[in-house]
Amino acid sequence: MALLQSITTKRLVLFTLLLLATLSAGEKMMEVPSDIRRQSSARTRQWARSELDGTLLVQMHISLAHSNIIEKADQYLFDVSDPGSDSYGRYWTAGDIVKAFASPASASYLVMQWLLGSGVPQDQIQLSNSRGYLLVHTTVARLQQLLSTTCHLQKKTSRPEHTEIVCQSLHIPSSLASFIEYVSISPRSLQPWDGTNNPSHSAVKRAPAAVPHSFSTRSIQDCHTYTSPPCLRELYNMPSAGGVPPHVNSSFGVYGQSYMTWLADDLDRFFGKYEPELVGQRPLVEPIDGGYLQTLYNNTVFNLESDLDFQYAMSLTRQNVTNIQVGDRYLTGDVNNMLAAFDKYYCDALDPAFDSIYPLDPPLPGSYDKTSDCGTVDPPKVISISFNWQEIDFSPEYLKRQCLEMLKLGLMGVTVVVSSGDTGPQSGTDGGTCILEDPLNPLSFTKNATAAGFNPGWPSSCPWVTSVGGTQRRMSTPPQGETSSHDTGVRRDTNVKKPWQENEESLRHVTPSFPNVTLTSGGGFSRHFPAPAYQRAALSSYKELEGAHLRNLAAAGHYTASAMAGRGYPDVSVLASAYLIYLHGQLTSVYGTSASAPVFASMIAMINSERLHAGKQTMGFVNPVLYAHPEMFNDITAGSNMGCGADPAFEAAKGWDPVTGMGTPDFEKLRKILVG
Ligand SMILES: *[C@@H]1O[C@H](CO)[C@@H](O)[C@H](O)[C@H]1NC(C)=O
Ligand SMILES: *[C@@H]1O[C@H](CO)[C@@H](O)[C@H](O)[C@H]1NC(C)=O
Ligand SMILES: *[C@@H]1O[C@H](CO)[C@@H](O)[C@H](O)[C@H]1NC(C)=O
Ligand SMILES: *[C@@H]1O[C@H](CO)[C@@H](O)[C@H](O)[C@H]1NC(C)=O
Ligand SMILES: *[C@@H]1O[C@H](CO)[C@@H](O)[C@H](O)[C@H]1NC(C)=O
Repeated sequence: MALLQSITTKRLVLFTLLLLATLSAGEKMMEVPSDIRRQSSARTRQWARSELDGTLLVQMHISLAHSNIIEKADQYLFDVSDPGSDSYGRYWTAGDIVKAFASPASASYLVMQWLLGSGVPQDQIQLSNSRGYLLVHTTVARLQQLLSTTCHLQKKTSRPEHTEIVCQSLHIPSSLASFIEYVSISPRSLQPWDGTNNPSHSAVKRAPAAVPHSFSTRSIQDCHTYTSPPCLRELYNMPSAGGVPPHVNSSFGVYGQSYMTWLADDLDRFFGKYEPELVGQRPLVEPIDGGYLQTLYNNTVFNLESDLDFQYAMSLTRQNVTNIQVGDRYLTGDVNNMLAAFDKYYCDALDPAFDSIYPLDPPLPGSYDKTSDCGTVDPPKVISISFNWQEIDFSPEYLKRQCLEMLKLGLMGVTVVVSSGDTGPQSGTDGGTCILEDPLNPLSFTKNATAAGFNPGWPSSCPWVTSVGGTQRRMSTPPQGETSSHDTGVRRDTNVKKPWQENEESLRHVTPSFPNVTLTSGGGFSRHFPAPAYQRAALSSYKELEGAHLRNLAAAGHYTASAMAGRGYPDVSVLASAYLIYLHGQLTSVYGTSASAPVFASMIAMINSERLHAGKQTMGFVNPVLYAHPEMFNDITAGSNMGCGADPAFEAAKGWDPVTGMGTPDFEKLRKILVG
């Protein structure tokens, strides 16, 4: 147990007086935000409740309010990311960030005094290194008394080892309200998820953006039908081989999760076909929290995403691509585990209700035997994440903290690119789910897969990442007279647009593997994050253009007026159809924005190389400059996404739209503005 921070006598007197004034005589209690997850009827059905033993040890995680820099953080990021600003490109160091984001000392002191005054022994309270969190190890009985609540245990019926403590609303003295951001509760020891016993569970809670695929053994014909590196180069005006020499400091990382692994044979087959000089090249593996390349199981779920990401990222950039591999063979790890490895102070924010905490207690054979990695890894300058969760799966506080961490990466000159999902405004696994707001309890949501409120995806809905949606060619078969140009290499002719280049529309595709799911570009509006300044003009223009349609969606209950003020996503889009990849030795065609994100990230990595060669900084957070220069994009105005019973849900339109964002990038134009 860490020692309490020492406090000067003078402060002690001052705060004791303050406390006496506020905590005396039956002080009023008020509800505090907490990580106790919303319960839906769907959820309750899958969980069995039981009584909680009052002597059970639990851990209470009190997040202290940050200094008011959070309100200003938005402006700081804009200052370093807006080309018009004097501070453009003047990125922060990790040290600058720690200093600026620390909690005021008074918060930890006051909260500690309340705990001590309520009878929690001092050695059961631990102040985190960053002074941002207090960890309290206590019993269920004391916790219930302290927070005026009652708790019980919930076990998932299908996975009894998966237990959660669920409490009614938590209360704190109202005088502490401005010092405590939220409280979360978790059992002291975690049950491991044994990924090797039943790998299919992986898809249940922490599933990737489903990358539905259609297996095809047909030989490739041409860019009208299939997508390959030469087609992407042609379509988006990217340089062919040897275009931009990679700069040694232009680092580029792709996020991967424990069991998900690329296969060397597949990479080499792909390189052999498209980039022969890359044969034998491998991603640089950066393991986090025991991350490793899993080889016990070769299947689509485990190998498709990684094979796709690295085949394209490495081919397009021809630079070193890092495989950020998170999680050991028991705990899958998640984006927060990655963020903690970048920022040692964020480690305190890992929340066992969602994130994986290492080491396992007790350890299992081959499990990661160290504590969760904290600040041990330098973030690559571009990070691509082809995974999607749903905003409602997390508490508002969790969303806010993770999103703030994305903002900090932007402050340090890192670009975070995420795929927007493949199921329109209906995020989640198995084709996605929707939300029904319960009028009796505005905080509770019911998942409803057929017709209900749109369900925004995560982390796309965080305003400090660049979210990438998906497009396809309007023509799926080659027009008369066009012959195959693919196998022989595509001739570059930038003056004459081929019909398929002028006919990009938003993704809409049904695969044999998911017959009841139409893949459409993930997009919509956050329910938590208001629209950031950089996109407000683009959003109002869309709402004006689409006013009548949006009012119809609202009238049908898909969309609320308040949601209209939320962060809109995606920001941009990239072809998401019929990517050829090698998977288990077979040439396969795959669909989804999982492909789009690494392609856009590759463009930023190439631009970073060029900027570094010119003695400039990396791009960092790119959204302000993207929205300021719509001329860098092919505006996609055809198509729509669908979901939650609405078809169309959102429609592609002139300018930005929540289907294809600003449109698809023209690399040459992007390069001129971003490098120049
Ligand atoms: C790529 O990584 C390898 C191995 O770390 C290193 O030797 C090489 O210099 C790197 N190349 C570039 C262009 O950064
Ligand atoms: C790469 O970055 C390191 C650390 O900032 C710096 O010392 C080095 O000079 C850079 N390399 C080049 C070629 O710019
Ligand atoms: C999985 O595929 C890789 C590469 O093709 C191979 O080396 C490995 O043995 C395979 N694993 C299993 C369990 O088949
Ligand atoms: C789903 O939503 C529809 C329309 O709002 C409603 O009629 C239906 O009962 C809901 N289904 C569930 C399982 O909640
Ligand atoms: C697809 O929908 C049809 C009709 O609603 C249903 O009968 C069928 O079982 C569904 N198939 C799958 C794979 O869910």
